[in-house]
Amino acid sequence: MTSYVSKPVNEKGFVEWSVEEDRIWHDLVSRQLALVKQSACKEYLDGLEMLNLPLNRVPQLPEINQVLMRETGWQVEPVPALINFDRFFALLADKKFPVATFLRSREEFDYLQEPDFFHEIFGHCAMLTNRQFAEFTHTYGQLGMNASGKERVYLARLYWFTVEFGLVKEGEQLKIYGGGILSSPGETLYAMEDPVPLREQFDIHTVLRTPYRIDIMQPEYFVLEDIGQLYKLSKMDLMFQVQQAMKVGLLPPLFEPKEVTHA
Ligand SMILES: [Fe+2]
Repeated sequence: MTSYVSKPVNEKGFVEWSVEEDRIWHDLVSRQLALVKQSACKEYLDGLEMLNLPLNRVPQLPEINQVLMRETGWQVEPVPALINFDRFFALLADKKFPVATFLRSREEFDYLQEPDFFHEIFGHCAMLTNRQFAEFTHTYGQLGMNASGKERVYLARLYWFTVEFGLVKEGEQLKIYGGGILSSPGETLYAMEDPVPLREQFDIHTVLRTPYRIDIMQPEYFVLEDIGQLYKLSKMDLMFQVQQAMKVGLLPPLFEPKEVTHA
């Protein structure tokens, strides 16, 4: 269930953001910029420089589109707060990245479960300027469009542990490219510095079989050798990998099951 509603987008692709939303954007970006400069991978930081996001106001979709179209042929597509799998995969297959046009409230400044405008733009769009990452995301959309419901659940794990929560090696260092981490100050620090979470070498078979929860800090991250590994994945027979993973099923979760409270 969503508690947010996307703001209307006019025929030119513009949203009327309020003064308070401009302030929230400013505060979110200024806090997170310092963190990502230390911890995001080069590809992300290069993309952020290209996007040249404004600090004092919420950016507009056409500004983002101009850069994405030039670099990789991608676009951002305004959507209502939640969309179904069909629409999600169809958009990615069409090189359109879905972006809900609402911004979190001050009350949920630090944490919200729903992907808002800050998460989508600041978390994801910088990586979409990278050709190898963009190609992976495009292939992912195409595969998902033709996959069965059960296969899609397996594919969702691949997306989760890459586009949302992926880490990558950079020389001797560990860096972040996942937008779910890069749009969260708490998880940026946690993913980089906390001794608790596991950081494992990326292995497609393991990733497809690893359960996750969306409402906790991740107990486990997967680390790529480089962003080029995503491009190589997009050229593999990923659906064969999904079939193999489905045959053996899920690995035991590293987290407690979500508490269910009955009314
Ligand atoms: Fe996301």
